[in-house]
Amino acid sequence: MELPRYAGLLRGRHFLNTNDFTREEIEQVLEAARDLRTKFRSRIPTPYLQGKTLFMLFYNRSLRTRNSFEAGIFQLGGHAHFLSPQDVYTPTLPEDMVPYQTESIADVARVLSRYGDAIAIRIYGDAAKWHIGRGHRVVREFAKWSSIPVLNMEDDVYHPFQALADIMAITDVAPNPRGKKFVVSYAYSGGLKPLAVPQSCVLIGTMFGMDVVLAHPPGFELEDHVIKAAKENADRYGGSFEIVHDMREAFEGADFVYPKAWSPKGFFPPYNGKVDKEGAVEYQNKFKHWICTQELMDLTNKGKYMHCGPADRGQEVTDDVIDNKEYSLYFEQAENRLHVQKAVMVMTMGG
Ligand code: CP
Repeated sequence: MELPRYAGLLRGRHFLNTNDFTREEIEQVLEAARDLRTKFRSRIPTPYLQGKTLFMLFYNRSLRTRNSFEAGIFQLGGHAHFLSPQDVYTPTLPEDMVPYQTESIADVARVLSRYGDAIAIRIYGDAAKWHIGRGHRVVREFAKWSSIPVLNMEDDVYHPFQALADIMAITDVAPNPRGKKFVVSYAYSGGLKPLAVPQSCVLIGTMFGMDVVLAHPPGFELEDHVIKAAKENADRYGGSFEIVHDMREAFEGADFVYPKAWSPKGFFPPYNGKVDKEGAVEYQNKFKHWICTQELMDLTNKGKYMHCGPADRGQEVTDDVIDNKEYSLYFEQAENRLHVQKAVMVMTMGG
């Protein structure tokens, strides 16, 4: 069986954040994803990872991520092991090690490296003790010790595979998205959500030269290092990056809008001395009017609606918007998760 030219192109690389890669490399991922999508839709077999194993460590729930990775590696001729937290020792960061109580990440990563071909991890929120950045440190610690690729299935800082699926959906609509207005906006939810999706969104949008507008109420600032990286991307790739505090102002003339909940980080370490979930919920309850409605969509430049899922209907968005067949990309984004993840697996684990 002949392998496609992209098999092994990123062989052995970890996939933790889209900004760890060049624009050219991300474009190669999208090209591979489109090839795999065409073959999937035509039911052309793609056994490019025959006999290969992906370990999937889920410390949080999932619909899209788990099923698209599991279906994806199966479609490539490989196999996925699902590891739930209660079935494995809790991997522990070096600073938290208590002798004889648990197993270090260094050991878990090296053991799994002896058995298979990649380790995928999801960890944020309660699983990362709501200490923002801790989930990402766990993923980086795995990557430090693993001799096989580590894939970030969403931590508390980045959700790189969602960003790939999103930019694939955008470039399907606008093959050259440079100069298109991309609004990444806070939208209300009663739940506490990580910052990973909006942070990865502003990074991928600016990497593709879009005019990215981040909209949020006071208190919902993204992390400084992400803002800095987004500005650097904008300078480097010819787009722009702006922050506003009004949803209507942001939506005016937008080509793509991505209204999505995230948590006010000032209620959590390291931005606060303690984890204050009640305070965060009480604070965010002041912003129930940050909801994406048809009236807001009417302000856009025939803009497309985007959301990573799961969408909180009636809080983040009204049904008529998310279900609108003309402009909602919700199910395209969800489908693209399958294709981009297959692409990255073939490129990092294949060849
Ligand atoms: N968007 C996303 O990661 O969805 P799941 O939480 O269902 O995996």
